[in-house]
Amino acid sequence: MKLWGGRFTKEENQLVHNFNESLSFDQKFYAQDIRGSIAHVKMLGKQNIISTDEMNQIIKGLEGIKEDIDNGTLQFSKESEDIHSFVEANLIERIGDAGKKLHTGRSRNDQVALDMKLYTRDEVVEINGLLKTLLSSLLNVIENNTETYMPGFTHLQKAQPITLAHHFGAYFEMFKRDRDRLDDIYKRMNYCPLGSGALAGTTYPLDREYTAQLLDFDGPTLNSMDSVSDRDYIIELLSALSTIMMHLSRFCEEICIWNSNEYRFVNIDDSYSTGSSIMPQKKNPDIAELIRGKTGRVYGALTSILTTMKGLPLAYNKDMQEDKELTFDAIDTVKGCIVLFTGMIDTMTFNKDIMEASTKHGFTNATDAADYLVNHGVPFRDAHGIVGQLVLFCEEKKIALDDMTLDEYKAISPVFEDDIYNAISLETCVNKRITIGAPGPDAMKKVIKVYKEYLNK
Ligand code: ARG
Repeated sequence: MKLWGGRFTKEENQLVHNFNESLSFDQKFYAQDIRGSIAHVKMLGKQNIISTDEMNQIIKGLEGIKEDIDNGTLQFSKESEDIHSFVEANLIERIGDAGKKLHTGRSRNDQVALDMKLYTRDEVVEINGLLKTLLSSLLNVIENNTETYMPGFTHLQKAQPITLAHHFGAYFEMFKRDRDRLDDIYKRMNYCPLGSGALAGTTYPLDREYTAQLLDFDGPTLNSMDSVSDRDYIIELLSALSTIMMHLSRFCEEICIWNSNEYRFVNIDDSYSTGSSIMPQKKNPDIAELIRGKTGRVYGALTSILTTMKGLPLAYNKDMQEDKELTFDAIDTVKGCIVLFTGMIDTMTFNKDIMEASTKHGFTNATDAADYLVNHGVPFRDAHGIVGQLVLFCEEKKIALDDMTLDEYKAISPVFEDDIYNAISLETCVNKRITIGAPGPDAMKKVIKVYKEYLNK
């Protein structure tokens, strides 16, 4: 039985039904649909739009449906068009005439707007929590590695010495901002569309403040046309999820590089690696690659909904049903990726000696050698040229700046003295960098304190 069968004289074509239905995917928010219906019915009862007895019958019926779906005794029948039709039909089957009053003063348009909001709102909270766990894992690495030296790169060329703590700290900042974005979206989306009807509100004396309160919203939405056609919050969410994936993907790319045979900065744990069916020696970073790969489908969801929405006249249009599958997929993908990524970080080990050796043999202290000259009165541009000559000399001899003799230094510039060795040692290069946000351990320790307070909030 269709909810809307009254004015029709022909049965729906089966292909039309299959094309039109959304139950196969909107069953995912059956719990939210029922929660919304219970709030609606409580309000109808409070406003004397239905009797208390009818209200109680409906609530009991809805709770029964929820329980039966939860424990698997009630299966979603293929005949229902969507979750809203399914629940209502089932309610009427269970409690009879009272069930026919559930949809008083409501449309599937405000209902679906509500369900999707309730569902995504829960997910925003869950993803935020997963990011918090990831941040704790990162902080663990950061705290233990404020003096683990590694090269910092620009253009993927060794640039200046940093620490592992500092590198991970950069990602801490990114994922922290990702959490802020989710908080922000939550605040903006947290208004209840229920009671907007099909598009123009209703003539019943609904108490929209009350339903909003029952459903933990900050209040009702203020324009019924906007309420049933707003999908901005989904776009914002998919944009935030895309940014999370972009951050994860960059980190994964770095882990793939660090894990490569050439770098060997890190060892991904066996439990987070896979092998090759033909090459027995292989241990591949599949998880990091797959997270990098899955970024594409989350971006796809964002592009898809933006495109779906761009030409829609107000108010509700069926096009909007397309918001669900891709959003659900993006949410599940992001949650999976964060969990797997966190596990990979927790079990990964670092080859600190290799990282340090790489820092020493990449002229990462060349800027500090130039700064040494500047501190002895040489203009920076000249100092830059002199150190360039030192690098050329070292490259020819296949040595590091630290390995040059003082005579060799003096042959290029007489300004150099014995204290150059201390000035360009890795420890000095890093320890001297103590401005806010720099890698020096003293600067990092202050930041770590801020991070700890942030995670304890
Ligand atoms: N399944 C629909 C959706 O997801 C529910 C709303 C249907 N409303 C309507 N007027 N056809 O958007």
